[in-house]
Amino acid sequence: MVDLLIKNGTIITANDTYKANIGVTGGKISVITTERIEAKKVIDASGKIVLPGAIDVHTHLQMPFGGTVSADSYEAGTRAAACGGVTTVFDFALQKKGNGLIQTAEERMALCKPQACVDYAFHLAITDFTKEVVEEIETAVAYGIPSFKVFMVYKKEGLMVNDAEICTALEKSKEVGALISVHAENPDLIDSRIAKYLEEGKTSAWYHYMSRPEFVEAEADKRAIHWAQSVDAPLYIVHLANKEGVEAVETAKAKGYKVYAETCPQYLYFNSEVYKREDGRSFVCSPPIKGEESRIKLWEALLDGTIDTVATDHCPFQSYEKDWGKDNFTKIPNGCMGIENMYPYLLSEANKGNIPFNRVVEVCSTNPAKIFGCKTKGNIACGYDADLVIYDKDIDFTITQEKMHSDVDHTIWEGVSLKGYPVMTLLRGSIVYKDGEFIGVPGAGQFLKRARLY
Ligand code: URP
Ligand code: ZN
Ligand code: ZN
Repeated sequence: MVDLLIKNGTIITANDTYKANIGVTGGKISVITTERIEAKKVIDASGKIVLPGAIDVHTHLQMPFGGTVSADSYEAGTRAAACGGVTTVFDFALQKKGNGLIQTAEERMALCKPQACVDYAFHLAITDFTKEVVEEIETAVAYGIPSFKVFMVYKKEGLMVNDAEICTALEKSKEVGALISVHAENPDLIDSRIAKYLEEGKTSAWYHYMSRPEFVEAEADKRAIHWAQSVDAPLYIVHLANKEGVEAVETAKAKGYKVYAETCPQYLYFNSEVYKREDGRSFVCSPPIKGEESRIKLWEALLDGTIDTVATDHCPFQSYEKDWGKDNFTKIPNGCMGIENMYPYLLSEANKGNIPFNRVVEVCSTNPAKIFGCKTKGNIACGYDADLVIYDKDIDFTITQEKMHSDVDHTIWEGVSLKGYPVMTLLRGSIVYKDGEFIGVPGAGQFLKRARLY
């Protein structure tokens, strides 16, 4: 007798599509069969699809940034995640100057633990690159955090590290089985272009894009890839948004280098024209959303395997905060929302025939789990956590802010029509979302302690 039976659904994983019953015992998938199973509780998934929960490996919840704190608390962000079929969230624990890495992780843990509505893990964002901190990378891996982020930008914000420091981080990561993620843009080009536009009185959101256009990102992608190749370390490029950068990843992969690329739903759905809209400031994120050629290339890369993962870079701000930059685009806090939209949007694209469902599962769940060492997540198979999404292909859903579950007062996804929508999310066998309602429990999410990644 299993605790829970999900019967008659069509199971879709990265590799398979088939009809079967899933039995869950103690929060884990214990049996998958076409036979009858005795169960304490039954969910009928007839006519529905059953998918692994998404793993969003790029979020900024309740994070001090842009002169404020990102608008979704850990609770609100993970609540919205659950309602969008995300069962594991990776958040950035941002090192404060002078603080150690373990101290950073523990402070973040204290904040997240009572609030987390889904399971969670951290990347450590290194911003203060001392000798001691480099040594602490190994301790952080042993602590359960084998992934790190470095910023090539955000000098004024105190987040940027220099080229030599990135190279050192890459070398160290190889030694301890860690993975370095990089935010790749060229800071000097950005600064000089911003100064020029402001001097010319060009202050609208469009000039956010113009000050960080395609080549500003591409050049940094290529530099980061070059360093990783030179020291023979793996590299993960976060929020890749430009065509030339995709081509650089393609070339590196063809040569056999371990360069992973992530893109975000906002780069796949919108193009830079959004910055000309009246609400253009809502779309201000870095790197900015690029032109149509890049968007098309990102889709090609998503389909052909060059892009490894899709994650949200969820970093929302309230309208009044975005309005700080009405007359000066540099004052707009950088970041957009998407934690509740990523899986439904990509699954809708699959439902419309634009990408296989299996590939959506691969980039949103299976690959993130493999790359970042979530051993019990990202698949529907015996022994895996019962992190599951039940999806109804026949629902027509229009995204509006009122239907979302985060604390933010607007959404860049307003009015977008989706074909199909998740009707249920289960976290380790417990229902956390059902038919539009969050029914999970803050604090029920568990920290995912990970081991070295290779
Ligand atoms: O604009 C963005 N992406 N804000 C969050 C911080 C980052 O760069 O990932
Ligand atoms: Zn970034
Ligand atoms: Zn980010």
